[in-house]
Amino acid sequence: MKGIILHGGHGTRLRPLTHTGPKQLLPIANKPMSEYCVETLVDAGIKEIAFIIGGIGSKKVKEYYGNGEKFGVKFTYIQQDSPRGIAHAISLCENFIHNEKFVVFLGDNIIQRKINDYVLDFEKSDASASLLLCEVNNPSQFGIAEIENNKIIKITEKPKNPPTNLAVTGIYFLTPYIFEVIKKLKPSWRNELEIADALQILVEEGEEIIYGMITDFWKDTGTPDDIIEANRIILENMPESFQGVKEENVVIKGKIIVGEGTIIKNGVKILGPAIIGKNCIIEGNTTIGGNTSIGKNAHLDDCNISDSIIMSNCTIKGKLNIQNSIIASNSKITKEQNENLKKFLLGEGTQISL
Ligand code: DAU
Repeated sequence: MKGIILHGGHGTRLRPLTHTGPKQLLPIANKPMSEYCVETLVDAGIKEIAFIIGGIGSKKVKEYYGNGEKFGVKFTYIQQDSPRGIAHAISLCENFIHNEKFVVFLGDNIIQRKINDYVLDFEKSDASASLLLCEVNNPSQFGIAEIENNKIIKITEKPKNPPTNLAVTGIYFLTPYIFEVIKKLKPSWRNELEIADALQILVEEGEEIIYGMITDFWKDTGTPDDIIEANRIILENMPESFQGVKEENVVIKGKIIVGEGTIIKNGVKILGPAIIGKNCIIEGNTTIGGNTSIGKNAHLDDCNISDSIIMSNCTIKGKLNIQNSIIASNSKITKEQNENLKKFLLGEGTQISL
């Protein structure tokens, strides 16, 4: 079985973070979110993976993942000219897939479980597709499945009046027959070729679609809050490790992961779950955590940071309370001596709440 990971799309709800790169490379617990998809596919024994890339992020995806050697598999890159839909992205992979079954993973979907058993079951089955469903509280934002007698009888994309709360997650097991179906699709109201419409055609043609339920954790990381929530869950489930240096009078509570070369100075408090990358300096009366990821080379002095993601090479200094925030690489936040003075140098689409 081959794999496809989608790295195209608009990323509009995550601007300004997506002005300089694709959302799928935004870090969760200090690792690009799509790397969790890669690991899940590789763990399931998939040896050839195609990345759909598009827009300004294409080069960064190629640079980060390379030829796949690092993961012991082969990576291929397929360019999508513009985000014309998930089904359109899949259609570009017809030659890559040839006549094998395959699994498509949306690069902004995160799960915690392995998919090895689903891969094996789908290999053996005669079904035309296999889906992973998950109960959600906001069904009008997803593809939604209706089930009768353990069979999928209908799939609708983002229904206004959802008939069920069973979301179709972004992990699709498919056969090459889907390429014939996609050729019949017309663009939807959002001008995209929808995977939900392709699956609905399979249902109408009487093709079998099997499914499994995700009952633990699944997240489509569409918004900043989703990313912060995914960060929390991943951190909670990571094994602890401490490779840095800790001075006296440092308080550590809960599970933490600290990278090589990081110095945690006198008076600092770290509340897990939290991860701190390599070569950081944490000093002053700083408190980090919980649910916080700090990228490499950070310099944090005298601040409180919780439920946040601070990417690499950031400096945060002064009596600042930072919560529920995502701060991109190379940012500098310092507190002015004069409380009334605020000085900004902000990129397009920046959001600040004072
Ligand atoms: O997350 C699951 C949901 O994903 C499903 O329940 C929906 O049925 C499915 O349509 C999709 O909904 P979204 O509206 O969340 O899809 P989004 O546009 O965010 O794209 C999902 C991923 O695919 C994202 O990583 C970007 C990538 N993508 C998207 C499009 C439209 C591409 O690579 N190319 C594209 O043309």
